[in-house]
Amino acid sequence: MVLVEGLRRLAQRYPALVALLAQLLATALLTAVVLAANHLAGWRFGWLTAGLLQGLMAATLGRWLGLSRWWWWLNLGFVPALLAFGGAPLPSWVFLAAFLLLLLFNWNSFTERVPLYLTGAQGTQLLAGIIAQQPAPLRFVDLGCGPAGPLLTLARQFPTGQFVGVETAPLSYLLAKFRALFQSNCSIRYQSLWRTDLAEFNVLYCFLSPAPMAALWQKSVQEMRPGALFVSNTFEVPGVAPEQTLQLNDWRDSSLLLWRIPG
Ligand SMILES: C[S@@+](CC[C@H](N)C(=O)[O-])C[C@H]1O[C@@H](n2cnc3c(N)ncnc32)[C@H](O)[C@@H]1O
Repeated sequence: MVLVEGLRRLAQRYPALVALLAQLLATALLTAVVLAANHLAGWRFGWLTAGLLQGLMAATLGRWLGLSRWWWWLNLGFVPALLAFGGAPLPSWVFLAAFLLLLLFNWNSFTERVPLYLTGAQGTQLLAGIIAQQPAPLRFVDLGCGPAGPLLTLARQFPTGQFVGVETAPLSYLLAKFRALFQSNCSIRYQSLWRTDLAEFNVLYCFLSPAPMAALWQKSVQEMRPGALFVSNTFEVPGVAPEQTLQLNDWRDSSLLLWRIPG
């Protein structure tokens, strides 16, 4: 159980590594199943059937280890695709396109050490409960809003509040911008969180990584008004105890950590 917990934590920071592990485990498991089926019942699997079974195992294992939903599809399709296209020379643009797609979603993994993973429905619901207790007028910012799922849900629930998302991963930004087109109280900026003036907001939400938390707290304390709310999904501010911790009881074991900007 300790090992599984450790792997789930690893999946949050290095999802590609855990996906690779899921692939290897699934391959080992499938080999055992194929050998046993052949030995005990004389069954033989076709290559593609075996590949699909491997994909299903890898996807399920990955999900159980805490990888987000889109990894399920990657894990499912990886080996079947290798088998299906094994003999066929794939045009190089396919690899280039796949690489570019990953790069454009995970732009900040390299420079900021913040990859893309998403706040779930439970986290969004809890955030809504927190927002409901804030005095009006509400000005909420999601620093690194990704494709803006939680931000838009909240903007719809609180039509009198103003919601802003900032994002610098190009594809996430475009998706967020497009999705927010018809939500008048929600705007998306192609802007680094480090260049965002935080003075205009009274609730700040972030789901980043351990790397930027100390500097982000410093910036918030300098720019936000005393009493403004700083909410971090899962990642702590080193050396500053949160005023409140709300456990999410999800498979990531995540929590919302709440601080008030001191006076
Ligand atoms: C873990 S995701 C969280 C997405 C969304 N806030 C959510 O909770 O579902 C973190 C996002 O922060 C973005 N990000 C990282 N560094 C950033 C920066 N300096 N400025 C703006 N966005 C950044 C990443 O591109 C990524 O989309």
